[in-house]
Amino acid sequence: MTGPERKETPPARKGDSPVKDIPPSQGGIPPPPLPPGVTGQARSSGSIIKDNPSRNGDTHHGSAPGPTVLPLPPSASGPEEGKASDPSREEEQGEDVEGEKGPGDKGEESGPADAKGFDIKKITDSFRDLFKKKAREVHVLKVPKKKEEVINPLVQGMDFMEELDLGSEHVKVQIFLDAETSEYIYHPIEPELAPKQKEVFDFIIETFNKSLKYDRKAFEELEEKERFLDMEVRTLLRDYAKVIGPVNEEFLNPILYYIRREYIGYGKIESIMMDVGVEDVSCDGTAIPIFVYHRDFGSIRTTIQFETDEELEGFVVSLAQRAGKSISVANPILDATLPEGHRLNATFGREVTTRGSSFTIRKFKEDPLTITDLVRFGTLSPEMAGHFWMSVQFGDSIIFAGGTASGKTATMNAISIFIPTSAKIISIEDTREVNLPHENWIAGLTRGSAEGGRETDIDMYQLLRAALRQRPEYVLVGEVRGKETMTMFQAMATGHITYSTMHADSVKSIVYRLENPPISIPRVLIQALNLVAIHNQLRVKGMRVRRITELVEIVGIEPTSLEIITNRVYKWEPAGDNFVFGGHSNLYEKIMDMEDMTRDEVVTELNRRAEIISWMVKNNVRKFLDVSTIVAEYYEDSDKVMRILRENPTIDISRGFNIFNELHKEKLPPSTLRSLPPHTEKGGNLRGIANGTPVTQKQEGGA
Ligand SMILES: Nc1ncnc2c1ncn2[C@@H]1O[C@H](COP(=O)(O)OP(=O)(O)OP(=O)(O)O)[C@@H](O)[C@H]1O
Ligand SMILES: [Mg+2]
Repeated sequence: MTGPERKETPPARKGDSPVKDIPPSQGGIPPPPLPPGVTGQARSSGSIIKDNPSRNGDTHHGSAPGPTVLPLPPSASGPEEGKASDPSREEEQGEDVEGEKGPGDKGEESGPADAKGFDIKKITDSFRDLFKKKAREVHVLKVPKKKEEVINPLVQGMDFMEELDLGSEHVKVQIFLDAETSEYIYHPIEPELAPKQKEVFDFIIETFNKSLKYDRKAFEELEEKERFLDMEVRTLLRDYAKVIGPVNEEFLNPILYYIRREYIGYGKIESIMMDVGVEDVSCDGTAIPIFVYHRDFGSIRTTIQFETDEELEGFVVSLAQRAGKSISVANPILDATLPEGHRLNATFGREVTTRGSSFTIRKFKEDPLTITDLVRFGTLSPEMAGHFWMSVQFGDSIIFAGGTASGKTATMNAISIFIPTSAKIISIEDTREVNLPHENWIAGLTRGSAEGGRETDIDMYQLLRAALRQRPEYVLVGEVRGKETMTMFQAMATGHITYSTMHADSVKSIVYRLENPPISIPRVLIQALNLVAIHNQLRVKGMRVRRITELVEIVGIEPTSLEIITNRVYKWEPAGDNFVFGGHSNLYEKIMDMEDMTRDEVVTELNRRAEIISWMVKNNVRKFLDVSTIVAEYYEDSDKVMRILRENPTIDISRGFNIFNELHKEKLPPSTLRSLPPHTEKGGNLRGIANGTPVTQKQEGGA
């Protein structure tokens, strides 16, 4: 279907030479193992309240806590339970917490009244009293790490690799290496609840389930929600102080963590959701470990799993509710967006997924991948990034194609930062993924079930048509697959610049998909598309990496054979893991026409932008606001930006990105204009650069 590729001999110019190799620095290399230190578990075991069976009668509320609808914290129902019943541990725990003022502590320190050897015990007790303050610290230090590993059967016998700090006082994650399977294991560690704390926790949950009027949507800020819950817990414990006894902060803290986890957090997977390194979370069924895709470790098995169908189903239902939707036996497939912007796909029960309910959460990135990240990962070269920058500014419509999770949306988002600052942008998505720094941006989201069909549903097609009436300059469509594609191509043909992603692995398969049902676009319309970026997830030196393996221009249609003519601008070479320039780009000619520039001038401009990208990579300027600052400044005064960056080949980004601040501007000589590159001297800056507006050669018009 695809026509012959137009091959041109590369002119012997410096700027056109094959691009530099970017060493693959995909964040998949596990950092070197750290020496095992005192573990989080070891430390937190210092605060366990002793499980003294004789105390159970002290409280009347919790003796039969009954089943709660919420999953029990793993620390209370999982391995730690075994720990609490380990007699040797109990003794240690007893020492550990002697003198702590937890509920039910009163009158218990003297132990059983009929104990023989009364004198010895008394002496021991008074000895302990004397040192009770010191005892806990000494004990904490005394707990050997080895012992914790042995106690936790989930990671027993595995090599401790590293501890991840999640920035929370309650939770941390340890990474183990299972030597037998050569597999990393992701082991979250949450606070342990001693049986007494567990009783109080169950009591609170039970009471809240009956009486607490908690509306997730009532509070916007997380802190507000936390404050509300904390207050409710404290009020409840005060009201029942006679039964429960006085409660100190140390006792209460882990309980509050679990209460927050159940009501505002993500229950059993809270620790995973807290980890910013985790990109995807997948649960494949009942009693199957949850897997996460971690920035640093790739796909990694966790020590968390949902044990029963009921527990998992309850969890999936609560996830759906959180996303404002429902999932049930009658309606077992869900595609939704969670309030934090995470993308949720779930199934319910064993009918559609035989191993039990399942869910995948793709976490929304507040701090999305930027062009700096993509170049650093080796997904594309700085020159390709420069090419994208020019093609965005000069109005190329682009399709980002590739397989599932090949990085299409991430590239589309990163490239969109190049959209001139004041351009009007509309994005349309099923699930919110696009995240832009632009002010003039309407973020559209479809409404309704994945299958659609209800009257109240708003699908991509309706949303896109509505969007086009708002006369946007740039239209981003999350993913095209249905009849919205035709509308998008019509929009392209009438002067809108569009970006979208598509499941297809080559230009050929894109054309095939476009021309056949359900999309069925006439071939003449396909010419409106300018550029296709093919994404692939590959293995390079044993590591999973993402590469833009081809950047292909749609040149036009061969009049007689009606074949589509394409031009491969860049190609990825597997042997050297580098990108090779094809020698020619249609974009250059387009800019030469539009801007009255020579080819050399266009290439110089492209190289300047590649230089900026390389500078950002070198200096780790990667946050999307920082990248967008540079882009915006470049649109305003490109020469100023080049000057400042060249004056500052290295900057210390840890001090913040302030290279364009007032102080710096003052340092600039007023003769900036005199040092313009050749093409800007004759005609001023490039049109688009000078006024910061997009440039398109197509006719403006409605769709
Ligand atoms: N170039 C890249 N290098 C490393 N990780 C990447 C890259 N691009 C995307 N990712 C990560 O890979 C995951 C999938 O990326 P993304 O959502 O962009 O893929 P996609 O092709 O759009 O997937 P889908 O087919 O599901 O729409 C995300 O977690 C993202 O952060
Ligand atoms: Mg996508």
